[in-house]
Amino acid sequence: ARITLRQLLDHAAEKCYGVPAFNINNMEQALAIMEAADSLDAPAIMQASRGARAYANDIMLKHIMDAVVEIYPHIPVCVHLDHGNAPSSCITAIQAGFTSVMMDGSLKADAKTPADWDYNVGVTKQVTEMAHLGGVSVEGELGVLGSLETGMGEAEDGHGAEGKLSQDQLLTNPDEAVKFVRETRVDALAVAMGASHGAYKFSRKPDGSVLAMNVIEEIHRKLPNTHLVMHGSSSVPIELQEIINQYGGQMKPTWGVPVEEIQGGIKNGVRKINIDTDVRMAMTGQVRRILQEDPSEFDPRKYLKPAMTALTKLCKERFEQFGTAGKA
Ligand code: G3H
Ligand code: 13P
Ligand code: ZN
Repeated sequence: ARITLRQLLDHAAEKCYGVPAFNINNMEQALAIMEAADSLDAPAIMQASRGARAYANDIMLKHIMDAVVEIYPHIPVCVHLDHGNAPSSCITAIQAGFTSVMMDGSLKADAKTPADWDYNVGVTKQVTEMAHLGGVSVEGELGVLGSLETGMGEAEDGHGAEGKLSQDQLLTNPDEAVKFVRETRVDALAVAMGASHGAYKFSRKPDGSVLAMNVIEEIHRKLPNTHLVMHGSSSVPIELQEIINQYGGQMKPTWGVPVEEIQGGIKNGVRKINIDTDVRMAMTGQVRRILQEDPSEFDPRKYLKPAMTALTKLCKERFEQFGTAGKA
């Protein structure tokens, strides 16, 4: 059944687990994620970005979501808008059947210029007032992560919070978070605590303390009823980089957020963990492998099926690691 983010994360908070939010753009990804959720009895969050909506068309996304709910009626699914850039983007997502929307007012509508306090509170509040009337959940964001535009991480020195990220705007201020939630009434809050979007987060192997866990812990203590969201949470596994590069890819050496760090976040109130890059890498590695191993192959199913199998494997790992398995 389709459920809201609030319903799902309230349960996650009660039972102390986290829920991976995988980005989808197509049928293959939706089916692969649901196959994993079904096999482990895990609730799922599928999120679509504005880019996904432009790629697939809202009506197609709506029907893909309706389809998986019909195929897996026993699995709770939250359908979420990732990084809405304006109230209008959130409203049209709700019209398309999303049960949860993110109003990312930490950036201006161009999705790259950092916004000021009044702008962020203003647009976010506008969305919560409207969404809550229809029982739809809202995620807001306070603090600026690494660049969405380039996909380049801010914390490139391998030391996370100790390095460039100690700059004020790159770490969410806990007292401001309290004020922001009080003013906007968001159900979930994305906080900046050392992660960044894309594959290139850290240029050296993290020493195990890339996230500002003290910030997460303090925000959670001050806002026990607001679910925290970790963006940029791909782990960028070395195995996936190796498969891509073994079959002709040219990814530069890189490190993501270690799963243990995310598990530490879950102990401190992180309930939604956004993963897109790992999804892309799992699928692309298999597409590259099949096309290189058999250059005569031209049936898309021959490479998309292994791509789906690799994605299902990744999702199952995260459902197990975050404690989502068995919670449906
Ligand atoms: O944070 C952004 C997500 O990874 C979605 O990326 O805008 O290229 O679909 P996208
Ligand atoms: P990754 O690039 O680390 O997968 O982050 C995705 C994300 O935060 C989507 O909102
Ligand atoms: Zn994000």
